[in-house]
Amino acid sequence: MIKISNLTHAYKQADHAIVALDDISLDIHEGEFIVFVGRNGSGKSTLAKHLNGLLTPTKGTVEVDGMGTHLEENLWKVRQRVGMIFQNPDNQIVATIVEEDVAFGPENLGIPQGEIRERVDDALKSVHMLEYARFEPHLLSGGQKQRVAIAGVLAMKPKYLILDEPTSMLDPRGKREVLETIRKLNSEQGVTVVLITHSMDEAIYADRVVAMDCGSIVLDAPPREFFDETKLLKEIGINLPPAALLSRELKKESYDLKKALSIEELAGTLCSLN
Ligand SMILES: Nc1ncnc2c1ncn2[C@@H]1O[C@H](COP(=O)(O)OP(=O)(O)O)[C@@H](O)[C@H]1O
Ligand SMILES: [Mg+2]
Repeated sequence: MIKISNLTHAYKQADHAIVALDDISLDIHEGEFIVFVGRNGSGKSTLAKHLNGLLTPTKGTVEVDGMGTHLEENLWKVRQRVGMIFQNPDNQIVATIVEEDVAFGPENLGIPQGEIRERVDDALKSVHMLEYARFEPHLLSGGQKQRVAIAGVLAMKPKYLILDEPTSMLDPRGKREVLETIRKLNSEQGVTVVLITHSMDEAIYADRVVAMDCGSIVLDAPPREFFDETKLLKEIGINLPPAALLSRELKKESYDLKKALSIEELAGTLCSLN
């Protein structure tokens, strides 16, 4: 479990400090799929960077399986357990051949050669990129590159995977591929996932959706309850998923519909209308 207790983070400037996180407490349990949403500047990336010790608390603590990130001696282990993926896949790919890129992490960990081969193949298989093992990354699409970046993190066998807007630079197809990969890693391989996104159609698959605003957590609930809080969500600048919005509009027009979250659900309820 990742345990966040009364976490405050202030960025020190020359003459003042910016409080990016203000007394946050939250537990992330093994096997969970948590989505974080919130407008720009609400503190999501700052929080993400605390989960693997890229930043350390100004006040409070972050513990990964009991290891506090404020202790230098824990950081190596913490970073092995918590993998991070960022927005731009181009900044995360270092080698000129896909499989070499994926091998980079385990090589740094000092894993024996034979096992590296196995880990690279397994990781590429998990993201459906094995047939691209010998490709040059610059020939791949954005979605494929992002999946290679994810494979690079998986090859280090992390328990927790933190993804900070991994789909925001991708086209719709790339977004779909990456989201499907993330969902499968969680449901089939049990990887704990923390996904930060602006796409509410990605949030509907989470176990919990957490909304941040001005450095605080303002809502933490399963998707259906979360998107029922329309008044609060409006105040903090969060849209409803497209299908939820449309089903609400239809209800307003007196169509007798159940509230839907996903397109599939909306299609199902529409088909049952006469
Ligand atoms: N390196 C930094 N130095 C100073 N202020 C920062 C830095 N990074 C982020 N901030 C500030 O911290 C706040 C939260 O930012 P961030 O965590 O990036 O939010 P989000 O990811 O939700 O957009 C913002 O006010 C932002 O300007
Ligand atoms: Mg951010």
